[in-house]
Amino acid sequence: MTEADRQTIGDGEDLCFINGAYRPLAEARISPLDRGFLFGDGVYEVIPVYSGRPFRLQAHLSRLRRSLDEARLPSPYSDAEWASLLTRIIDSHGGGDQSLYLQVTRGAPDLRDHAFPDGERPTVFVMSSPLRAPEARGRSVILVDDIRWRRCDIKTVSLLPNVLLRQQAIEAGADEAVLIRDGFITEGAASNLFVVEGGALVTPPKSPLLLPGITRDLVVELAEANGLECRQENISLARFRSADEVWLSSSTKEVIPVTSVDGQPVGDGRPGPVWWRMRELYDAFKADLADPGKREAISTS
Ligand SMILES: Cc1ncc(COP(=O)(O)O)c(C=O)c1O
Repeated sequence: MTEADRQTIGDGEDLCFINGAYRPLAEARISPLDRGFLFGDGVYEVIPVYSGRPFRLQAHLSRLRRSLDEARLPSPYSDAEWASLLTRIIDSHGGGDQSLYLQVTRGAPDLRDHAFPDGERPTVFVMSSPLRAPEARGRSVILVDDIRWRRCDIKTVSLLPNVLLRQQAIEAGADEAVLIRDGFITEGAASNLFVVEGGALVTPPKSPLLLPGITRDLVVELAEANGLECRQENISLARFRSADEVWLSSSTKEVIPVTSVDGQPVGDGRPGPVWWRMRELYDAFKADLADPGKREAISTS
């Protein structure tokens, strides 16, 4: 960021991007008629940043484009424009590790009406939050009915079911809700799911019933590249309950071990050996991102 930029947009504290302008987050404003606010009519992405570098940026931007297409929202920027916008937010927060949040909604027309507005410009919002490395401790989950719609592959801001399900888990003293649809596990309220069976990893295949997680894809790639068997199969409730290990994955939580399901221990109740191996592989992948000599070799797709 140049000195001129710094003067135009403040000294870099809590800057966000809102509808074409960079401002301190406390000064960002949207209309109460914004369709994101009134209808949850919008999509979003969460992108972790390590050592000032957005993690798997191309994959996140491709998923954003897909969410926009499926929601029939016009794409406000090209990938190159997104990349430079995100870089500016990252720089204004001093680089390092951060979590970027970006949201696009169907704008703020004068009238509240379910039907799409004519020619309305989308609202675009980007902010950065602190990113903390997840602790290597076992988490607890409860099993709940997946009450969501049938397009969970779209990363929409309409998250009321996910919010209710996560809160149900918290109130039961657990960390996450694991969702069941028609006797099969789909994913967590805000995470994807893996089980380990006889040393092999298993995760549900991509479908409209779950979010195609960027972290999930990386775990599958790391497993395949390092000789860990990994299958994409539907996981029944009975199979889930008898797994040797259970993991959750998400951009901000990375890969975390589940050691208790509905109050019953998973395996011996401690993070398992396959999880420790994946933790090593994941940490090595992140360390390569921080190494300027190795950056070029890392695929972002
Ligand atoms: C419902 C749901 N599934 C899965 C994930 C994990 O996706 P990613 O690894 O891209 O963060 C998330 C992330 O927030 C989520 O909300």
